[in-house]
Amino acid sequence: MEKKGRDEQKEAEDQVVNPWEVTAKDGGKIDYDKLIDKFGCQRLDEALIRRVERLTSRPPHVFLRRGVFFAHRDFIEILDAVERGEKFYLYTGRGPSSESLHLGHLVPFMFTKYLQDAFKVPLVIQLTDDEKCMWKNLSVEESRRLARENAKDIIACGFDITKTFIFSDFDYVGGAFYQNMVKVAKCVTFNKVVGIFGFTPEDHIGKISFPPVQAAPSFPSSFPHLFSGKDDLRCLIPCAIDQDPYFRMTRDVAPRIGFHKPALIESSFFPALQGETGKMSASDPTSAIYVTDSAKEIKNKVNKYAFSGGQDSIENHRKYGANLEVDIPIKYLGFFLEDDAELEHIRKEYAAGRMLTGEVKKHLIDVLTVVVERHRRARAAVTDEMVDAFMAIRPLPNMFD
Ligand code: TRP
Repeated sequence: MEKKGRDEQKEAEDQVVNPWEVTAKDGGKIDYDKLIDKFGCQRLDEALIRRVERLTSRPPHVFLRRGVFFAHRDFIEILDAVERGEKFYLYTGRGPSSESLHLGHLVPFMFTKYLQDAFKVPLVIQLTDDEKCMWKNLSVEESRRLARENAKDIIACGFDITKTFIFSDFDYVGGAFYQNMVKVAKCVTFNKVVGIFGFTPEDHIGKISFPPVQAAPSFPSSFPHLFSGKDDLRCLIPCAIDQDPYFRMTRDVAPRIGFHKPALIESSFFPALQGETGKMSASDPTSAIYVTDSAKEIKNKVNKYAFSGGQDSIENHRKYGANLEVDIPIKYLGFFLEDDAELEHIRKEYAAGRMLTGEVKKHLIDVLTVVVERHRRARAAVTDEMVDAFMAIRPLPNMFD
C-alpha cells in the first residue's frame, strides 16, 4: 500500500527529503531504508536486476549493479509487460535552474540513456522552465534560455533522436497536455498538496498549481503526436528519489482519470565532495565537479576537498586501513569506474591500508577527467539546429524499433 497524504515536512525528528530540500538527520547520512519505508516504495533487489539483465540481454548498468538506483514503484509491472511483448515509454526531466551542470545532474540522464538503448523505447524529457521561474525567481526569459542550454547537456548524453522528444513547459503546455493537467488538478485538493509538498498559505499560487504540470507527461495522451490511440501505454520514470512526492500524487490520480499509474525507478543522491553529510550546493562551487571543470580544476578539487576515509598518518593508515563507508573518492569511483574487478581491487587494498588516499584520488582524477572530457566534446558538437530537432513536435515513426 502506498502511504498517502502524510506530512513529511512536519516530522521534526526526521530527515527531510522533498523536491526542494534534502537534509539528513543531525548532519548524518540520508537513511535510504527509512526513506523507502516512509515513502512506501519498494527496494530494487538482486532478483529484479537479474531479470533486467535477462530481458535486455545486456549487462545491467553500473548504476543498477552498484545500487545507485535502489528503489522502485511497479517496475515489476513494466518488466511483466515487456515479457508479454508490450512496450512502454520513458519519462524524465530537469528543472533548468543553472547554466552549469555537475556530475550528479548527469546521473539520471546517463541511466535513462541506458534504459532507452536496452529496452528500445521512446523517451520524453520535460524541461520545467516554468517550475524554476517560480521557485528560483528567474525571469521567464532567463528560464527559457537555461532550458535550451541544459537541453544541449542532455543531448550530449547520447539520446537517440529517432526515439526522443525534449520539450519545455513554456513552449509545449497546451492542447492535450493541458487537458490532462486540468484532469489531474480536479482530483487534488489543497489539503492534499499541503500534505504532500508542505506548501504554506504564504506560498504563491503558482507553486501550488505546478504539480499537475509535472504529472501530465506520465500519461501518453499528453503527447498526441507520439502516442495517439495508445492510452494504454505504460510509463516508466527514472528520477532521483526527491521527486517521489510528485509521482505519489500522480499515481494516486492516474486510475481515476483512466490511465495506468506511472512506474518509477529511483536513485539515491550524488554526494558532495565534502562528504555525504553535506549537500551539493549550487552556490558552493567547491562542493561538486562540474561538467565544465578543466582537468586542472578536477585535480585540485579532488585533492583538496574530497573527504577521505583514510587515517591521519601513514603509520595509522597502514595499521588500520581506510574507512570506505565515509570515503568520497571510493563513493565517486563507485559511480564512474565501470570495471568491477578494478574497483574491487582498489577497495580491498585501500581498506587494508596498503593503498593510500593519494593513490585512490589519483585513480578518481583519471576517471573523472575522462568522463568530463567526453561530455565536453559531446556537448560542443551539439548545435542549435540539433536542439530544435530534438524539441520539434513531430511523430517518431521508429520509436519502438
Ligand atoms: N522537478 C524536476 C527538477 O527540478 C524536473 C522534472 C520534471 C523531473 N519532470 C521530471 C525529474 C521527471 C525527473 C523525472 O529537476
